[in-house]
Amino acid sequence: MKKVYITTPIFYVNDLPHIGHAYTTIICDTLAKYFKYKKFNVLFTTGTDEHGLKVEKAANLKKKDPKSFVDDVSKNFKELGIKLNISNSDFIRTTEERHKKSAIAFWKKLQENDHIYLSDYKGWYSIKDESFYQEKELNKVNNDFFTIDGEKVEWIQEESFFFKLSKFQEQLLDFYDKNPDFIQPKSRMNEVKSFVKSGLKDLSISRTSFNWGIKIPNKSNHIMYVWIDALTNYLSSLGYPDFDNDKFEYWKECIHVIGKDILKFHGIYWPAMLMAANLPMPKKIFAHGWWTNEGKKISKSLGNTIDPNEMIEKFGLDQFKYFLLREVPLGNDGDFSEKSFVNRINSDLSNNLGNLIQRVIKFLHKNYDNRIPVDITSDLKDYALLKEGYELQSKIDILMKNLQISKCLEEIFLYINNLNKFMDINQPWNTFKNSPQEAGECLSILIEAFRIVGIILQPFIPIASSKILDILGIDKLKRNFDCINSKFSIKKNHKLNEPLAIFPRYES
Ligand code: ME8
Ligand code: MG
Repeated sequence: MKKVYITTPIFYVNDLPHIGHAYTTIICDTLAKYFKYKKFNVLFTTGTDEHGLKVEKAANLKKKDPKSFVDDVSKNFKELGIKLNISNSDFIRTTEERHKKSAIAFWKKLQENDHIYLSDYKGWYSIKDESFYQEKELNKVNNDFFTIDGEKVEWIQEESFFFKLSKFQEQLLDFYDKNPDFIQPKSRMNEVKSFVKSGLKDLSISRTSFNWGIKIPNKSNHIMYVWIDALTNYLSSLGYPDFDNDKFEYWKECIHVIGKDILKFHGIYWPAMLMAANLPMPKKIFAHGWWTNEGKKISKSLGNTIDPNEMIEKFGLDQFKYFLLREVPLGNDGDFSEKSFVNRINSDLSNNLGNLIQRVIKFLHKNYDNRIPVDITSDLKDYALLKEGYELQSKIDILMKNLQISKCLEEIFLYINNLNKFMDINQPWNTFKNSPQEAGECLSILIEAFRIVGIILQPFIPIASSKILDILGIDKLKRNFDCINSKFSIKKNHKLNEPLAIFPRYES
Protein backbone atom coordinates (compact mmCIF):
# COMPACT_ATOMS: atom_id res chain seq x y z
CA MET A 1 0.00 0.00 0.00
CA LYS A 2 1.18 3.51 -0.79
CA LYS A 3 2.12 5.77 2.11
CA VAL A 4 1.54 9.39 2.92
CA TYR A 5 2.34 11.52 5.96
CA ILE A 6 0.43 14.75 6.54
CA THR A 7 1.24 17.39 9.16
CA THR A 8 -0.29 20.56 10.54
CA PRO A 9 1.96 23.11 12.23
CA ILE A 10 2.06 22.54 15.96
CA PHE A 11 0.25 25.46 17.50
CA TYR A 12 1.49 27.79 20.22
CA VAL A 13 -0.33 27.29 23.46
CA ASN A 14 -0.27 30.94 24.43
CA ASP A 15 -3.96 31.26 23.63
CA LEU A 16 -7.21 29.53 22.70
CA PRO A 17 -7.58 27.90 19.27
CA HIS A 18 -9.47 29.94 16.67
CA ILE A 19 -10.73 29.62 13.12
CA GLY A 20 -7.20 29.85 11.68
CA HIS A 21 -6.00 26.80 13.60
CA ALA A 22 -9.19 24.98 12.68
CA TYR A 23 -8.64 25.85 9.02
CA THR A 24 -5.22 24.22 8.71
CA THR A 25 -6.41 21.24 10.70
CA ILE A 26 -9.47 20.77 8.47
CA ILE A 27 -7.36 20.95 5.31
CA CYS A 28 -5.02 18.28 6.63
CA ASP A 29 -7.87 16.08 7.79
CA THR A 30 -9.53 16.34 4.39
CA LEU A 31 -6.28 15.28 2.72
CA ALA A 32 -5.83 12.44 5.17
CA LYS A 33 -9.35 11.19 4.49
CA TYR A 34 -8.95 11.57 0.75
CA PHE A 35 -5.86 9.37 0.85
CA LYS A 36 -7.63 6.90 3.09
CA TYR A 37 -10.40 6.44 0.53
CA LYS A 38 -7.67 6.06 -2.07
CA LYS A 39 -6.45 3.15 0.08
CA PHE A 40 -3.18 4.72 1.20
CA ASN A 41 -1.59 4.08 4.55
CA VAL A 42 -1.94 7.48 6.15
CA LEU A 43 -0.12 9.13 9.02
CA PHE A 44 -1.55 12.46 10.06
CA THR A 45 -0.14 14.45 12.94
CA THR A 46 -0.93 17.66 14.74
CA GLY A 47 0.00 18.98 18.16
CA THR A 48 1.17 21.86 20.30
CA ASP A 49 4.31 23.99 20.46
CA GLU A 50 4.83 24.57 24.16
CA HIS A 51 8.25 26.10 24.78
CA GLY A 52 9.72 29.54 24.26
CA LEU A 53 9.44 33.05 25.52
CA LYS A 54 5.98 33.72 24.19
CA VAL A 55 4.46 30.76 26.03
CA GLU A 56 6.47 31.48 29.17
CA LYS A 57 5.16 35.06 29.17
CA ALA A 58 1.58 33.87 28.68
CA ALA A 59 1.98 31.56 31.69
CA ASN A 60 3.43 34.39 33.79
CA LEU A 61 0.53 36.59 32.87
CA LYS A 62 -1.86 33.93 34.18
CA LYS A 63 0.38 33.52 37.26
CA LYS A 64 0.86 29.85 36.49
CA ASP A 65 3.99 27.78 36.24
CA PRO A 66 4.67 27.06 32.56
CA LYS A 67 4.12 23.31 32.79
CA SER A 68 0.65 23.43 34.30
CA PHE A 69 -0.23 26.31 31.99
CA VAL A 70 0.73 24.35 28.85
CA ASP A 71 -1.04 21.25 30.11
CA ASP A 72 -4.26 23.26 30.33
CA VAL A 73 -4.03 25.10 27.04
CA SER A 74 -2.82 22.11 25.07
CA LYS A 75 -6.03 20.34 26.08
CA ASN A 76 -8.05 22.96 24.21
CA PHE A 77 -6.24 22.10 21.01
CA LYS A 78 -6.70 18.41 21.55
CA GLU A 79 -10.39 19.00 22.17
CA LEU A 80 -10.67 21.05 19.00
CA GLY A 81 -9.39 18.02 17.11
CA ILE A 82 -12.07 15.90 18.70
CA LYS A 83 -14.74 18.48 17.92
CA LEU A 84 -13.55 18.56 14.31
CA ASN A 85 -13.61 14.77 14.33
CA ILE A 86 -10.17 14.64 12.71
CA SER A 87 -8.50 11.38 11.81
CA ASN A 88 -5.06 12.17 13.22
CA SER A 89 -2.80 9.29 14.12
CA ASP A 90 -0.82 11.30 16.67
CA PHE A 91 -0.97 14.48 18.71
CA ILE A 92 2.48 15.60 19.64
CA ARG A 93 3.41 17.97 22.46
CA THR A 94 6.90 19.42 22.60
CA THR A 95 7.02 19.00 26.37
CA GLU A 96 6.78 15.21 26.00
CA GLU A 97 9.89 13.16 26.72
CA ARG A 98 9.70 11.33 23.39
CA HIS A 99 9.88 14.68 21.60
CA LYS A 100 12.74 16.01 23.71
CA LYS A 101 14.72 12.87 22.97
CA SER A 102 14.25 13.34 19.23
CA ALA A 103 15.01 17.06 19.29
CA ILE A 104 18.25 16.42 21.16
CA ALA A 105 19.23 13.60 18.81
CA PHE A 106 18.64 15.98 15.91
CA TRP A 107 20.75 18.67 17.55
CA LYS A 108 23.57 16.20 18.19
CA LYS A 109 23.47 15.12 14.57
CA LEU A 110 23.94 18.72 13.42
CA GLN A 111 26.80 19.07 15.87
CA GLU A 112 28.41 15.84 14.80
CA ASN A 113 28.24 17.00 11.18
CA ASP A 114 29.92 20.26 12.20
CA HIS A 115 27.06 22.60 11.39
CA ILE A 116 26.85 24.26 14.82
CA TYR A 117 29.22 26.73 16.52
CA LEU A 118 29.14 28.88 19.65
CA SER A 119 29.25 32.66 19.45
CA ASP A 120 27.35 35.78 20.54
CA TYR A 121 24.04 36.94 19.16
CA LYS A 122 23.15 40.59 18.86
CA GLY A 123 20.00 41.63 17.11
CA TRP A 124 16.26 42.19 16.91
CA TYR A 125 13.72 39.64 18.07
CA SER A 126 9.92 39.45 17.83
CA ILE A 127 8.39 37.47 20.66
CA LYS A 128 5.08 37.15 18.85
CA ASP A 129 6.73 35.39 15.88
CA GLU A 130 9.56 33.91 17.97
CA SER A 131 11.73 35.18 15.14
CA PHE A 132 14.93 37.16 14.54
CA TYR A 133 14.88 40.11 12.20
CA GLN A 134 17.48 42.06 10.31
CA GLU A 135 17.15 45.81 10.62
CA LYS A 136 16.41 46.16 6.90
CA GLU A 137 13.25 44.03 7.43
CA LEU A 138 11.86 46.42 10.06
CA ASN A 139 10.13 49.80 10.19
CA LYS A 140 11.54 52.44 12.50
CA VAL A 141 9.11 54.65 14.43
CA ASN A 142 10.81 57.13 16.77
CA ASN A 143 13.38 54.91 18.46
CA ASP A 144 11.45 51.67 18.18
CA PHE A 145 11.48 49.05 15.46
CA PHE A 146 8.44 47.14 14.20
CA THR A 147 7.83 44.15 11.93
CA ILE A 148 5.61 44.64 8.87
CA ASP A 149 2.76 43.26 10.99
CA GLY A 150 3.29 46.09 13.45
CA GLU A 151 4.85 43.98 16.20
CA LYS A 152 7.43 45.78 18.26
CA VAL A 153 10.77 43.94 18.32
CA GLU A 154 13.26 43.85 21.14
CA TRP A 155 17.02 43.96 21.12
CA ILE A 156 18.70 40.85 22.43
CA GLN A 157 22.34 40.20 23.06
CA GLU A 158 23.53 36.92 24.49
CA GLU A 159 25.77 33.93 24.05
CA SER A 160 24.23 31.60 21.48
CA PHE A 161 24.82 28.57 19.35
CA PHE A 162 24.54 29.14 15.61
CA PHE A 163 23.51 26.90 12.77
CA LYS A 164 25.64 27.41 9.65
CA LEU A 165 22.68 28.29 7.49
CA SER A 166 24.75 30.48 5.15
CA LYS A 167 26.56 27.42 3.85
CA PHE A 168 23.33 26.01 2.42
CA GLN A 169 22.36 28.82 0.09
CA GLU A 170 23.48 27.16 -3.15
CA GLN A 171 22.31 23.71 -2.14
CA LEU A 172 18.86 25.09 -1.34
CA LEU A 173 18.55 27.01 -4.61
CA ASP A 174 19.65 23.94 -6.49
CA PHE A 175 17.06 21.83 -4.68
CA TYR A 176 14.25 24.32 -5.42
CA ASP A 177 15.22 24.34 -9.09
CA LYS A 178 15.15 20.59 -9.32
CA ASN A 179 11.87 20.32 -7.37
CA PRO A 180 9.68 23.16 -8.60
CA ASP A 181 6.59 21.83 -6.77
CA PHE A 182 8.35 21.43 -3.43
CA ILE A 183 6.78 24.65 -2.20
CA GLN A 184 3.28 25.56 -3.34
CA PRO A 185 1.58 27.73 -4.46
CA LYS A 186 4.18 28.82 -7.01
CA SER A 187 4.12 32.40 -5.74
CA ARG A 188 5.35 31.16 -2.36
CA MET A 189 8.15 29.23 -4.02
CA ASN A 190 9.22 32.43 -5.75
CA GLU A 191 9.17 34.31 -2.47
CA VAL A 192 11.35 31.70 -0.83
CA LYS A 193 13.80 31.67 -3.72
CA SER A 194 14.26 35.39 -3.73
CA PHE A 195 14.76 35.43 0.03
CA VAL A 196 17.46 32.78 -0.27
CA LYS A 197 19.07 34.56 -3.22
CA SER A 198 19.28 37.76 -1.21
CA GLY A 199 21.72 35.99 1.12
CA LEU A 200 21.39 33.79 4.19
CA LYS A 201 22.96 34.53 7.55
CA ASP A 202 23.80 31.90 10.12
CA LEU A 203 20.89 31.27 12.44
CA SER A 204 20.94 31.70 16.20
CA ILE A 205 19.56 28.45 17.60
CA SER A 206 19.88 28.66 21.36
CA ARG A 207 18.96 31.10 24.09
CA THR A 208 20.47 31.83 27.48
CA SER A 209 18.30 34.62 28.90
CA PHE A 210 15.38 32.42 30.03
CA ASN A 211 14.93 28.71 30.54
CA TRP A 212 11.53 27.46 29.33
CA GLY A 213 12.83 25.07 26.69
CA ILE A 214 14.82 21.95 25.94
CA LYS A 215 18.24 22.05 27.55
CA ILE A 216 21.24 21.71 25.24
CA PRO A 217 23.35 18.62 25.98
CA ASN A 218 26.53 19.51 27.94
CA LYS A 219 25.65 23.19 27.97
CA SER A 220 22.66 23.43 30.21
CA ASN A 221 22.57 27.20 30.49
CA HIS A 222 21.42 27.10 26.85
CA ILE A 223 17.96 26.09 25.73
CA MET A 224 17.07 25.22 22.18
CA TYR A 225 15.60 28.01 20.03
CA VAL A 226 11.87 27.26 20.03
CA TRP A 227 11.68 26.95 16.23
CA ILE A 228 14.33 24.23 16.09
CA ASP A 229 12.52 22.46 18.90
CA ALA A 230 9.18 22.86 17.09
CA LEU A 231 10.25 21.82 13.60
CA THR A 232 11.69 18.55 14.82
CA ASN A 233 8.19 17.52 15.94
CA TYR A 234 7.69 16.27 12.39
CA LEU A 235 10.44 13.73 13.04
CA SER A 236 9.80 12.96 16.67
CA SER A 237 6.33 11.75 15.92
CA LEU A 238 7.94 9.16 13.62
CA GLY A 239 10.30 8.16 16.44
CA TYR A 240 13.49 9.82 15.17
CA PRO A 241 16.39 8.88 15.42
CA ASP A 242 15.08 5.30 15.25
CA PHE A 243 14.19 5.35 11.59
CA ASP A 244 13.75 2.10 9.74
CA ASN A 245 12.82 1.81 6.07
CA ASP A 246 9.17 2.09 6.85
CA LYS A 247 9.66 5.41 8.67
CA PHE A 248 11.85 6.74 5.88
CA GLU A 249 9.15 5.91 3.36
CA TYR A 250 6.58 7.88 5.32
CA TRP A 251 8.99 10.74 5.79
CA LYS A 252 9.72 11.03 2.07
CA GLU A 253 5.97 11.23 1.40
CA CYS A 254 5.43 13.97 3.95
CA ILE A 255 3.23 16.96 3.12
CA HIS A 256 3.58 19.93 5.47
CA VAL A 257 0.51 22.16 5.37
CA ILE A 258 1.19 25.55 6.96
CA GLY A 259 -0.03 29.14 6.91
CA LYS A 260 1.91 31.64 4.84
CA ASP A 261 3.13 33.29 8.08
CA ILE A 262 5.60 30.51 8.78
CA LEU A 263 6.92 29.90 5.28
CA LYS A 264 10.48 31.02 5.99
CA PHE A 265 10.88 28.47 8.76
CA HIS A 266 9.48 25.59 6.74
CA GLY A 267 10.73 26.52 3.29
CA ILE A 268 14.27 27.58 4.19
CA TYR A 269 15.48 26.76 7.70
CA TRP A 270 13.91 23.33 7.88
CA PRO A 271 15.17 22.00 4.51
CA ALA A 272 18.66 23.35 5.29
CA MET A 273 18.67 21.61 8.66
CA LEU A 274 17.45 18.38 7.12
CA MET A 275 20.29 18.57 4.60
CA ALA A 276 22.67 19.20 7.48
CA ALA A 277 21.35 16.12 9.29
CA ASN A 278 21.62 13.92 6.15
CA LEU A 279 17.89 13.42 6.01
CA PRO A 280 15.79 13.37 2.84
CA MET A 281 13.40 16.22 2.11
CA PRO A 282 9.68 15.97 2.75
CA LYS A 283 7.63 15.82 -0.41
CA LYS A 284 5.84 19.13 -0.27
CA ILE A 285 5.21 22.27 1.70
CA PHE A 286 1.90 23.97 1.02
CA ALA A 287 1.38 27.45 2.46
CA HIS A 288 -2.26 28.45 2.62
CA GLY A 289 -3.61 31.97 2.93
CA TRP A 290 -4.89 34.06 5.81
CA TRP A 291 -8.44 34.45 7.12
CA THR A 292 -9.79 37.80 8.14
CA ASN A 293 -13.11 38.50 9.86
CA GLU A 294 -15.33 40.94 7.92
CA GLY A 295 -12.20 42.41 6.36
CA LYS A 296 -10.34 42.82 9.64
CA LYS A 297 -7.29 41.03 10.94
CA ILE A 298 -8.32 38.42 13.52
CA SER A 299 -6.79 39.21 16.88
CA LYS A 300 -7.48 38.86 20.53
CA SER A 301 -6.97 42.56 21.12
CA LEU A 302 -9.65 43.41 18.53
CA GLY A 303 -11.93 40.87 20.21
CA ASN A 304 -12.98 39.45 16.84
CA THR A 305 -11.68 35.90 17.01
CA ILE A 306 -14.05 33.27 15.63
CA ASP A 307 -14.48 30.30 17.92
CA PRO A 308 -14.71 27.10 15.86
CA ASN A 309 -16.63 25.44 18.68
CA GLU A 310 -19.38 28.02 18.46
CA MET A 311 -19.57 27.74 14.69
CA ILE A 312 -19.91 23.99 14.88
CA GLU A 313 -22.57 24.19 17.58
CA LYS A 314 -24.57 26.73 15.63
CA PHE A 315 -24.24 25.45 12.06
CA GLY A 316 -22.82 21.95 12.16
CA LEU A 317 -19.41 20.48 11.48
CA ASP A 318 -19.85 19.67 7.80
CA GLN A 319 -21.20 23.14 7.15
CA PHE A 320 -18.24 24.80 8.87
CA LYS A 321 -15.77 22.63 7.01
CA TYR A 322 -17.50 23.04 3.69
CA PHE A 323 -17.42 26.81 3.91
CA LEU A 324 -13.72 26.96 4.78
CA LEU A 325 -12.72 24.45 2.15
CA ARG A 326 -14.92 25.80 -0.63
CA GLU A 327 -14.90 29.55 -0.16
CA VAL A 328 -11.34 30.28 -1.31
CA PRO A 329 -8.89 28.43 -3.53
CA LEU A 330 -6.26 26.89 -1.28
CA GLY A 331 -3.38 29.35 -1.09
CA ASN A 332 -5.50 32.51 -1.31
CA ASP A 333 -6.57 34.66 1.61
CA GLY A 334 -10.17 34.39 2.75
CA ASP A 335 -12.62 36.70 4.43
CA PHE A 336 -15.17 35.34 6.85
CA SER A 337 -18.60 36.89 7.20
CA GLU A 338 -21.72 35.27 8.56
CA LYS A 339 -23.61 36.42 5.48
CA SER A 340 -21.31 34.73 3.00
CA PHE A 341 -21.20 31.70 5.28
CA VAL A 342 -24.98 31.29 5.38
CA ASN A 343 -25.30 31.96 1.64
CA ARG A 344 -22.73 29.37 0.81
CA ILE A 345 -24.10 26.57 2.94
CA ASN A 346 -27.72 27.27 2.03
CA SER A 347 -27.20 27.39 -1.69
CA ASP A 348 -24.73 24.53 -2.07
CA LEU A 349 -25.57 22.17 0.75
CA SER A 350 -29.24 22.70 1.57
CA ASN A 351 -30.60 23.58 -1.87
CA ASN A 352 -28.39 21.96 -4.44
CA LEU A 353 -27.47 18.79 -2.65
CA GLY A 354 -29.83 18.16 0.26
CA ASN A 355 -33.10 19.11 -1.42
CA LEU A 356 -32.40 17.18 -4.57
CA ILE A 357 -31.64 13.97 -2.75
CA GLN A 358 -34.61 14.29 -0.48
CA ARG A 359 -37.03 14.94 -3.32
CA VAL A 360 -35.87 11.88 -5.20
CA ILE A 361 -35.81 9.59 -2.20
CA LYS A 362 -39.24 10.70 -1.01
CA PHE A 363 -40.68 10.09 -4.45
CA LEU A 364 -39.26 6.59 -4.56
CA HIS A 365 -40.48 5.98 -1.07
CA LYS A 366 -43.99 6.98 -2.02
CA ASN A 367 -44.27 5.48 -5.48
CA TYR A 368 -41.78 2.65 -5.82
CA ASP A 369 -41.88 0.97 -2.44
CA ASN A 370 -38.46 2.49 -1.76
CA ARG A 371 -36.84 0.30 -4.40
CA ILE A 372 -34.63 1.03 -7.39
CA PRO A 373 -36.91 0.82 -10.45
CA VAL A 374 -34.43 -0.28 -13.13
CA ASP A 375 -30.93 -1.69 -13.53
CA ILE A 376 -28.15 0.72 -14.38
CA THR A 377 -26.70 -0.23 -17.74
CA SER A 378 -24.85 1.70 -20.38
CA ASP A 379 -27.90 1.29 -22.64
CA LEU A 380 -29.92 3.79 -20.65
CA LYS A 381 -30.81 6.87 -22.67
CA ASP A 382 -29.15 9.26 -20.24
CA TYR A 383 -26.19 7.12 -19.25
CA ALA A 384 -23.86 9.97 -20.25
CA LEU A 385 -24.75 11.68 -16.98
CA LEU A 386 -23.37 8.74 -15.04
CA LYS A 387 -20.31 8.51 -17.22
CA GLU A 388 -19.63 12.10 -16.24
CA GLY A 389 -19.95 11.03 -12.59
CA TYR A 390 -17.59 8.08 -12.89
CA GLU A 391 -15.06 10.38 -14.51
CA LEU A 392 -15.21 12.83 -11.61
CA GLN A 393 -12.74 10.75 -9.70
CA SER A 394 -9.87 11.22 -12.12
CA LYS A 395 -10.58 14.95 -12.22
CA ILE A 396 -10.42 15.07 -8.43
CA ASP A 397 -7.18 13.10 -8.38
CA ILE A 398 -5.50 15.60 -10.67
CA LEU A 399 -6.68 18.55 -8.59
CA MET A 400 -5.69 16.91 -5.30
CA LYS A 401 -2.12 16.48 -6.56
CA ASN A 402 -1.86 20.22 -6.11
CA LEU A 403 -4.13 20.31 -3.05
CA GLN A 404 -6.78 22.23 -4.98
CA ILE A 405 -9.53 21.30 -2.54
CA SER A 406 -11.81 24.20 -3.40
CA LYS A 407 -11.60 23.33 -7.09
CA CYS A 408 -12.51 19.73 -6.27
CA LEU A 409 -15.64 20.87 -4.50
CA GLU A 410 -16.42 23.20 -7.36
CA GLU A 411 -16.24 20.27 -9.81
CA ILE A 412 -18.38 18.04 -7.62
CA PHE A 413 -21.02 20.72 -7.16
CA LEU A 414 -21.06 21.49 -10.88
CA TYR A 415 -21.98 17.87 -11.30
CA ILE A 416 -24.69 18.20 -8.67
CA ASN A 417 -25.99 21.21 -10.63
CA ASN A 418 -26.22 19.00 -13.67
CA LEU A 419 -28.19 16.45 -11.68
CA ASN A 420 -30.63 19.19 -10.66
CA LYS A 421 -31.02 20.23 -14.28
CA PHE A 422 -31.57 16.64 -15.30
CA MET A 423 -34.30 16.28 -12.72
CA ASP A 424 -35.98 19.53 -13.79
CA ILE A 425 -35.91 18.64 -17.48
CA ASN A 426 -37.18 15.10 -17.01
CA GLN A 427 -39.79 15.87 -14.38
CA PRO A 428 -40.19 12.27 -13.21
CA TRP A 429 -43.14 13.28 -11.00
CA ASN A 430 -45.01 14.11 -14.26
CA THR A 431 -43.75 11.37 -16.57
CA PHE A 432 -44.55 8.88 -13.84
CA LYS A 433 -48.27 9.26 -14.58
CA ASN A 434 -48.01 8.02 -18.16
CA SER A 435 -44.70 6.27 -18.29
CA PRO A 436 -43.45 4.78 -15.02
CA GLN A 437 -40.65 3.14 -16.98
CA GLU A 438 -39.28 6.49 -18.18
CA ALA A 439 -39.62 8.04 -14.73
CA GLY A 440 -38.02 4.95 -13.22
CA GLU A 441 -34.98 5.27 -15.46
CA CYS A 442 -34.54 8.90 -14.55
CA LEU A 443 -34.83 8.17 -10.82
CA SER A 444 -32.47 5.20 -10.97
CA ILE A 445 -29.88 7.29 -12.74
CA LEU A 446 -30.21 9.92 -10.04
CA ILE A 447 -29.80 7.38 -7.26
CA GLU A 448 -26.68 5.98 -8.88
CA ALA A 449 -25.37 9.54 -9.24
CA PHE A 450 -26.03 10.11 -5.52
CA ARG A 451 -23.99 7.02 -4.78
CA ILE A 452 -21.10 8.53 -6.71
CA VAL A 453 -21.54 11.91 -5.05
CA GLY A 454 -21.86 10.34 -1.59
CA ILE A 455 -18.60 8.45 -2.00
CA ILE A 456 -16.65 11.28 -3.51
CA LEU A 457 -17.74 13.80 -0.87
CA GLN A 458 -16.61 11.66 2.06
CA PRO A 459 -13.26 13.38 2.66
CA PHE A 460 -14.90 16.82 2.58
CA ILE A 461 -18.26 16.46 4.36
CA PRO A 462 -18.08 13.06 6.01
CA ILE A 463 -21.20 13.29 8.17
CA ALA A 464 -23.55 14.17 5.31
CA SER A 465 -21.84 11.71 2.99
CA SER A 466 -22.31 8.83 5.33
CA LYS A 467 -25.94 9.87 5.82
CA ILE A 468 -26.44 9.82 2.06
CA LEU A 469 -24.73 6.45 1.66
CA ASP A 470 -26.70 5.05 4.59
CA ILE A 471 -30.00 6.18 3.11
CA LEU A 472 -28.99 4.57 -0.16
CA GLY A 473 -28.13 1.39 1.73
CA ILE A 474 -24.55 1.21 0.44
CA ASP A 475 -22.41 -1.43 2.11
CA LYS A 476 -19.76 0.14 4.38
CA LEU A 477 -17.07 -1.89 2.62
CA LYS A 478 -18.03 -0.43 -0.73
CA ARG A 479 -17.34 3.19 -0.07
CA ASN A 480 -13.75 3.58 -1.23
CA PHE A 481 -12.96 5.67 -4.27
CA ASP A 482 -12.40 2.62 -6.43
CA CYS A 483 -16.12 1.90 -6.06
CA ILE A 484 -16.87 4.99 -8.15
CA ASN A 485 -17.21 2.66 -11.06
CA SER A 486 -20.08 1.15 -13.04
CA LYS A 487 -19.03 -2.27 -11.72
CA PHE A 488 -20.51 -1.27 -8.37
CA SER A 489 -23.63 0.40 -9.72
CA ILE A 490 -26.88 0.12 -7.83
CA LYS A 491 -29.16 -2.75 -8.91
CA LYS A 492 -32.84 -2.97 -9.73
CA ASN A 493 -34.97 -3.67 -6.64
CA HIS A 494 -32.18 -2.62 -4.27
CA LYS A 495 -33.98 -1.36 -1.19
CA LEU A 496 -33.36 2.14 0.14
CA ASN A 497 -33.64 3.19 3.75
CA GLU A 498 -36.14 5.72 5.09
CA PRO A 499 -35.68 9.27 3.80
CA LEU A 500 -33.98 11.62 6.27
CA ALA A 501 -33.26 15.34 6.18
CA ILE A 502 -29.62 15.90 5.27
CA PHE A 503 -29.10 19.65 5.62
CA PRO A 504 -31.34 22.16 7.37
CA ARG A 505 -31.67 25.71 6.01
CA TYR A 506 -30.45 28.72 7.97
CA GLU A 507 -31.73 32.28 8.00
CA SER A 508 -29.06 34.93 7.89
O1 ME8 B 1 3.42 29.59 14.25
N1 ME8 B 1 -5.71 32.38 8.93
O2 ME8 B 1 2.07 28.56 15.80
P1 ME8 B 1 0.76 29.47 15.76
C1 ME8 B 1 -5.24 31.20 8.51
N2 ME8 B 1 4.07 27.20 16.73
N3 ME8 B 1 -4.46 30.39 9.27
C2 ME8 B 1 -4.15 30.80 10.51
C3 ME8 B 1 -4.62 32.03 11.02
C4 ME8 B 1 -5.44 32.84 10.17
N4 ME8 B 1 -5.94 34.01 10.56
N5 ME8 B 1 -4.15 32.15 12.28
C5 ME8 B 1 -3.42 31.04 12.54
C6 ME8 B 1 3.23 28.76 15.12
N6 ME8 B 1 -3.42 30.21 11.48
C7 ME8 B 1 4.30 27.76 15.46
C8 ME8 B 1 4.36 26.69 14.39
S1 ME8 B 1 5.33 24.43 13.35
C9 ME8 B 1 6.74 23.56 13.45
C10 ME8 B 1 5.42 25.66 14.58
C11 ME8 B 1 -2.79 28.87 11.42
O3 ME8 B 1 -0.05 29.03 16.92
C12 ME8 B 1 -1.83 28.74 10.25
O4 ME8 B 1 -1.64 27.37 9.98
O5 ME8 B 1 1.10 30.89 15.65
C13 ME8 B 1 -0.56 29.29 10.83
O6 ME8 B 1 0.59 28.90 10.10
C14 ME8 B 1 -0.59 28.70 12.21
O7 ME8 B 1 -1.98 28.71 12.57
C15 ME8 B 1 0.25 29.47 13.21
O8 ME8 B 1 -0.01 28.96 14.48
MG1 MG C 1 1.44 32.86 15.08
